[in-house]
Amino acid sequence: MEDKEFSGKVALVTGAANGIGSASAIKFAAKGAKVICSDVNEISGNKTVSKIIGNGGSAHFIRADVSDGSEVKALMEQIIKSHNQLDFAFNNAGIGLFDKPIDQCTEEDYDKVMNINSKGVWLCMKYEIPIMLEQQGGCIVNTASQAGLVGGAGLSIYVASKHAVVGFTQSAALEYGAKGIRINSVAPGIIDTQINQPFWDDHPELYEEWKSTVPMKRYGTAEEVAEMVVWLCTKDASFVHGATMPVDAGMLAR
Ligand SMILES: NC(=O)c1ccc[n+]([C@@H]2O[C@H](COP(=O)([O-])OP(=O)(O)OC[C@H]3O[C@@H](n4cnc5c(N)ncnc54)[C@H](O)[C@@H]3O)[C@@H](O)[C@H]2O)c1
Repeated sequence: MEDKEFSGKVALVTGAANGIGSASAIKFAAKGAKVICSDVNEISGNKTVSKIIGNGGSAHFIRADVSDGSEVKALMEQIIKSHNQLDFAFNNAGIGLFDKPIDQCTEEDYDKVMNINSKGVWLCMKYEIPIMLEQQGGCIVNTASQAGLVGGAGLSIYVASKHAVVGFTQSAALEYGAKGIRINSVAPGIIDTQINQPFWDDHPELYEEWKSTVPMKRYGTAEEVAEMVVWLCTKDASFVHGATMPVDAGMLAR
């Protein structure tokens, strides 16, 4: 439902081609924001755009690899050129690396996961923040994970990459809170998106078994995370800053 807090506002979503990013882009647009959907996957990114336009919303796709500084800089320059403002930024693009103990990980694994999940969030904030400083306001939400707050066997590089997102969020909140920019992150639990598919393909027997480890006995949907992302950008969240919000059915409460 359209909301006057969002109409006329501009929202950037990275990783908008699929899963949590796509659901969040659709939700921002349903609230009335003009959405820039960014991803490395142009075909699926444009599908998110088509869904938004089909629902009567406003969106367009800009391809950018978040791990590449020149592409992130160019993304922000295109947003300024087309909209001359950036009110909400959801830095969400990420990849998984599951089921790989430290001794089996390669340096390439380390560089790839850290470059996309951690450096990507840092690069996005680096180029979003000057725009928000110039316009004297904005909201940033980064995607961490429950793995950003606790350890996980077989997940060490992913865990480290998401702990970095929490650290960047907290530090940026301290740097820019007095300058009108609110910065938070979300910590999803196990959400049924394609990032987990390679793991479920390798261990189909664990798909049902792992549900029993979730206090609510089910996996989350991308839409349930999108609700938190968009809420963090509303005035209702005006005193929420530097926080990492679990959306995890109680996984972190164990
Ligand atoms: N699904 C979960 O269980 C879960 C849990 C915690 C955190 N997360 C995090 O949520 C975020 C979204 O994941 P998802 O579950 O929607 O998975 P997803 O695989 O459905 O979506 C991730 C998107 O990021 C894009 N992407 C990957 N590398 C990129 C790059 N270099 N530049 C730009 N885009 C890139 C992909 O193309 C894809 O569209 C990720 O940061 C992930 O780590 C997911």
